[in-house]
Amino acid sequence: MAKHAARVASPRVVNIADLRTLARRRVPRVVFDYVDGGAEDEITLRENRRAFEEITFRPRQAVAIPHCDLRTPVLGCDLSIPVLLAPVGYSRVIHAGGEVAAARAAGQAGTGYILSTISGYPLEEVKAASVGPVFYQLYAMGGREVAEGALERARKAGFAGLFVTVDTAVAGMRERDFRNGMKELLGRSLLGKIRFSPQVLARPSWLTSFLLDGGVRPLPNVVVPGRGPMPLIDVGSALALSTISWEDLRWIHDAWRGPIIIKGVLTGEDARRAMDEGAAAIVVSNHGGRQLDGVQATLRALPEIVSAMNGQIEVLVDGGIRRGADIVKALCLGARAVLCGRAYAYGLAAAGEAGVARALEILRADLERTLRLLGCPSIAMLDRSYISCQRL
Ligand code: GLV
Repeated sequence: MAKHAARVASPRVVNIADLRTLARRRVPRVVFDYVDGGAEDEITLRENRRAFEEITFRPRQAVAIPHCDLRTPVLGCDLSIPVLLAPVGYSRVIHAGGEVAAARAAGQAGTGYILSTISGYPLEEVKAASVGPVFYQLYAMGGREVAEGALERARKAGFAGLFVTVDTAVAGMRERDFRNGMKELLGRSLLGKIRFSPQVLARPSWLTSFLLDGGVRPLPNVVVPGRGPMPLIDVGSALALSTISWEDLRWIHDAWRGPIIIKGVLTGEDARRAMDEGAAAIVVSNHGGRQLDGVQATLRALPEIVSAMNGQIEVLVDGGIRRGADIVKALCLGARAVLCGRAYAYGLAAAGEAGVARALEILRADLERTLRLLGCPSIAMLDRSYISCQRL
């Protein structure tokens, strides 16, 4: 049993919201809000959730289901559930186990993990931790040469695909991060940290393991030739260095030579452009409401994109997934699978690997129950006939 499993066992934790409550108690506000928060007025953050609430189910009753099949083929991988762990930056700040713990839990659960460029662990270590597929997510921080170095390492290590995030022309205005001193926490100036220290000192167990883990570490997968790993910087500065345009996809394709998934698409036009540029799949995403506030909920954008893709490439979706029922709704609307970020990051903050494993266990149990209550024997059979979305 993974360390700290008791901390997230039932009945203390019966759903993802319980993991969120525990996370809030275990990590400093600055870390919790980095995970929990969105951009500006957090309209999109809330909309992502609200869109799920507007869909209702149309169950088929009295259907015998001796075996409920949750397996789903995604990007050539056979996943035990239609859920991938989304790239979450700063995971090693959230919990010392960080990306390695999350990847291991994903693999144990029979699913895939997507490693953010803003990772505290070397990509080779993360890949080795998982028995499942591991994907890399690219921010071109530090420029093309730096990215090419990471892509070569990821290819050699056996990463299964490359997610290219395209919604970070600049960083969204995440006001909680400014107020809480995210930049100061990660910066070098001790003086700068003093103002924000009470919230950190209020979480001594997090602080102890953060310090024992080496504190703020450089980015081992963003290696600047002649200078070494880039120092960790706040998300605003990081994303400003990470802008990717359609033109960049040419050199990214040449450097990667494997499947590319475009993450951050919200319109049929961009989805078609991604497909024309050779994407193997797209992720309908508004970056969890962390970038442009006021964009549509991803669930509302999904039907337009599914219809534009017309089955030619896989469509994935993220944003606001907290229950198996949410996953089922997204799949009924045509997504092949979903990406979960906060749902497992709360678990990571609450209890490291055991917390991520618990999040996945909750979603798996939810999925099976929802399918059985719907009278649908398999993920592959979900379609629009199981839902009603008059208000979507
Ligand atoms: C990192 O990608 C973030 O959105 O915080």
